[in-house]
Amino acid sequence: MRYLVLVPDNLNRDGLDVLRAVEQFEVYAPGKMTREETLARIPDAHALIVRSDTRVDAALLEHAANLKVVVRAGVGVDNIDLAACTERKIVVMNTPEANTISTAEHTIGLMLALARHIPQADRSLREGRWERNKFVGTQLSGKTLGIIGFGRVGHAVAERAKALGMMVLAFDPFVPERLARRMAMLTSLEQVLAEADVLSLHAVTTDETRGLINKETIAYMKDGVLIVNTARGALINSADLAEALRSGKVAGAALDVYEVEPPPPDHPLIGLDNVIHTPHLGASTYEAQVQVGVEAAEAVRKALLEGRYDNVRNREVLDGDENGD
Ligand code: MLT
Repeated sequence: MRYLVLVPDNLNRDGLDVLRAVEQFEVYAPGKMTREETLARIPDAHALIVRSDTRVDAALLEHAANLKVVVRAGVGVDNIDLAACTERKIVVMNTPEANTISTAEHTIGLMLALARHIPQADRSLREGRWERNKFVGTQLSGKTLGIIGFGRVGHAVAERAKALGMMVLAFDPFVPERLARRMAMLTSLEQVLAEADVLSLHAVTTDETRGLINKETIAYMKDGVLIVNTARGALINSADLAEALRSGKVAGAALDVYEVEPPPPDHPLIGLDNVIHTPHLGASTYEAQVQVGVEAAEAVRKALLEGRYDNVRNREVLDGDENGD
């Protein structure tokens, strides 16, 4: 049997090479495909590999008569309708390890940039000024980092923050204390909010976490707190954070992610002097993209040829199948 593997987003070449080396696979990966192009190809596809751009929604799946697996090359599966995939017995997998270090390093980079006003100082010098007094920063050593969402990236950030001399508090209702103990003190959300000098978000978007950073939770925080978000834009109520940044309650924010990407020009957080932006670059390193691509390709190969499934996001589809993770 031959299988069509459809890749409508840009995937690293090493990953595509893994797919192309499999005799039973025909690979269609012309680079970023439009919605129309994806709709035209999906009826013949047995596997789909996407990053965050392609929306795998019920309307697309309606045409996916042969689809068996969807692999998200990355972590967040918020662009994939899991319920609709489950209904059609399509297994959804992701590659949760591959991005971890790159995202953690980007988080630490943003934290340092925020604490030392690096982008603002760079801008000022390029514009011909020499403003040493304006850009007096904050030392991170000795400060408390509060982490919300203590999964893989949260752990990797904690490890690096400890090397900088920070104390680390974390909140995650799903992580057992014994797993967190080595890296952070696991505690309540209220304590993390109240004691953090720097708050870093690493949670997934759920009904419980959507808008978690809002007027009420900001009120718990220390005056002058710094906030970093490399997880998902929906964790923050942007209007409430913008107000807190204007008042100085929150001294600065570094944002890599937005509820809608790219954010509209009238986004309430764009244009504030104390906000640093990057365009969803957490996983954008050469190393992470190679690993993401290869892991996604391997996941498709194992699923279609060996019936083995790792990192399944909709386990119900495989219930009773002993080969799932
Ligand atoms: C992820 O979920 O893997 C990261 O946010 C990066 C991405 O969306 O590609």
